[in-house]
Amino acid sequence: MEEMRRAIWVILATAVLASSVMVGVRGDDTKTLVKKVKGQKVCIKGWECSTWSKYCCNETISDIFQTYQFENLFSKRNSPVAHAVGFWDYQSFILSAALYEPLGFGTTGNTTMQMMEVAAFLGHVGAKTSCGYGVATGGPLAWGLCYNREMSPSQSYCDDYYKLTFPCAPGAEYYGRGALPIYWNYNYGYIGEALKEDLLNHPEYIEQNATLAFMAAMHKWMTPVKKSQPSPHDVFVGNWKPTKNDTLAKRVPGFGTTMNILYGDQVCGKGDIDDMNVIVSHYLYYLDLMGVGREEAGPNEILSCAEQVAFNPITSSPSSSS
Ligand SMILES: *[C@@H]1O[C@H](CO)[C@@H](O)[C@H](O)[C@H]1NC(C)=O
Ligand SMILES: *[C@@H]1O[C@H](CO)[C@@H](O)[C@H](O)[C@H]1NC(C)=O
Ligand SMILES: *[C@@H]1O[C@H](CO)[C@@H](O)[C@H](O)[C@H]1NC(C)=O
Ligand SMILES: *[C@@H]1O[C@H](CO)[C@@H](O)[C@H](O)[C@H]1NC(C)=O
Repeated sequence: MEEMRRAIWVILATAVLASSVMVGVRGDDTKTLVKKVKGQKVCIKGWECSTWSKYCCNETISDIFQTYQFENLFSKRNSPVAHAVGFWDYQSFILSAALYEPLGFGTTGNTTMQMMEVAAFLGHVGAKTSCGYGVATGGPLAWGLCYNREMSPSQSYCDDYYKLTFPCAPGAEYYGRGALPIYWNYNYGYIGEALKEDLLNHPEYIEQNATLAFMAAMHKWMTPVKKSQPSPHDVFVGNWKPTKNDTLAKRVPGFGTTMNILYGDQVCGKGDIDDMNVIVSHYLYYLDLMGVGREEAGPNEILSCAEQVAFNPITSSPSSSS
């Protein structure tokens, strides 16, 4: 084992030396390191994109989406009637994004695509954390990131079916928390394992730490529900090619299918329902505010999942999240 590790180190070290590492300095003083691995250009760009990746050769999220834009999108989140005043901020969004940018989050494709993915992800977040209603000042779409937890849980969301793998901690409550709210012991368990945080015993971490709350949401965005399926990121940026079954199920690359993966038949395949439209509306509103323009989002067939069959119908898959 030790021998093997040493051998791998030597190979790695040689590879790094052999590839000429160039240093570029950008106007904002962020150093970009560039090298070639097997003919493929890969980069490291400051702390925000800090593992060798082709995605780090592109602009980072903070280049294309800045504090004032975050403030525009979520302008009401710190108003006195909001429910998570002082919790959510730009800094925690970017700190969290830094873990996923080397994997392509917000760094795939041209600048328009990058901005659209940020708008799409935040569109889901805004819709799920909004306390906007018809007559809210600034309009119902200005109230994203109003919540960081479910306010009056009707139960503690402990599913005994998982008592061996993800046993509920005494006194812990697994009600909805976060940017794309997590419910149930098993979902806290799975995401905790992925993020290496003990969320099963400490679900409250999610409502205490905005960086962690965004990390959990980005993890969901970047990870398929099942290995054979695409992630919301994959279907949005065009990494995914539909199979014949997908086509029959009306699942096409784009925003609509991100809702299918995240919410399944709670939101999709039910026609033009409010639960779906409110998510689409947040996405389009953010595209406008970010200066991309909603017309870039494409036609309704791409935006909607009204006619789609769910990847994972709730009845046969208790772990598809709500
Ligand atoms: C950006 O990429 C998309 C496809 O991902 C393409 O439709 C669009 O024309 C590109 N925009 C620019 C300005 O190159
Ligand atoms: C980086 O940006 C360019 C153009 O802006 C785009 O064509 C390319 O696909 C992007 N790289 C990756 C890995 O997405
Ligand atoms: C929030 O969580 C992140 C990720 O685990 C951690 O790096 C950071 O220190 C935490 N912040 C606080 C205030 O505990
Ligand atoms: C396609 O759908 C059929 C019928 O639902 C199913 O039996 C088959 O396994 C699916 N194929 C793939 C590749 O998912």
